[in-house]
Amino acid sequence: MKLLILPDAAAAAARVVDEIRDLVDQKPEARLGLATGGTMEPVYEGLVKSDADLRRVTTFNLDEYVGLSPQHPQSYRSFMEARLFGPKGMSRKQTHLPNGDAPDPEAEADRYEAQIAEGGLDLQLLGIGANGHIGFNEPTSSLGSRTRVKTLTRRTRADNARFFDDEDAVPRFAITMGIATILDARHVILLATGTAKAEAVAAMVEGPLSAVCPASALQLHRRATIVVDTAAASSLA
Ligand code: F6R
Repeated sequence: MKLLILPDAAAAAARVVDEIRDLVDQKPEARLGLATGGTMEPVYEGLVKSDADLRRVTTFNLDEYVGLSPQHPQSYRSFMEARLFGPKGMSRKQTHLPNGDAPDPEAEADRYEAQIAEGGLDLQLLGIGANGHIGFNEPTSSLGSRTRVKTLTRRTRADNARFFDDEDAVPRFAITMGIATILDARHVILLATGTAKAEAVAAMVEGPLSAVCPASALQLHRRATIVVDTAAASSLA
C-alpha cells in the first residue's frame, strides 16, 4: 500500500487527476474502473478541465442502484453523464454501469462481472464509506466476493439520503463489483478526504485485514495507492 498525504482535498483530487491523465497518456485505450460520490466530484471536474483524452478509454463504474432507470436523476449513470461522460464527449458504447432496472438483477451482475473480466481493469478508482465500505461492499462482505446484488445498510442509506427527497426514497439494493473484482484491477487508487473518513482510513491502513472493514482488503493488493488529505489522515497513528 502506498499512502500519499496531501495538504487538502483539492490537492488530493488533483493528484488523482494526474494519475489518471498519466495512465491515459501512456495507454489511450485504458480500461478504467470509476466511482461516484461527493469525493469524486473534484476529480471529474479536474479531468474535464484537463487535456486528458478519454475518447478511446473504456470505463466500468463500481456500482448502480437497483430499481433506478439509467435516466433517473439519482442514478449513478446520470451522475457520470453530468460530471464526466457528457462534458468529455464519451459515448454510451465506451462507458459501462450495471443496469439498475434490468429485469433480473442477479443475472445483470453476472453479465457485468464477465464483461469486466474480458480485459480486466488497468485502474480502479475508489472512494471509501465512513464504515469502511468500498463500492457497496458493506462491512462483513466476503473478501472473495464478485459483482452481485447487495442490501444497503441503514448507515449508507442515511449517508446517501442527501441526494434524495427523503431517506425512504433511497433504494434498498445495489449491484456492486465485489471485493475480489476490485482486487483484480492492475492498479487501485482510493481517494478519501475530510475528517468523516478518518476512522475508516485508519482501519483500512493500520487495522487488521478484516471483512469488518472491507477497504482493508486493499492491504492484499500489489499496487494500491491511497490518496488522502490531512483531515482524512488525522486518525492514523
Ligand atoms: C460510489 C461508491 C461508494 C463511495 C463511498 C464514498 O460509486 O461505490 O463506495 O465511493 O460511499 O462516497 P462519498 O465520496 O460520497 O463520501
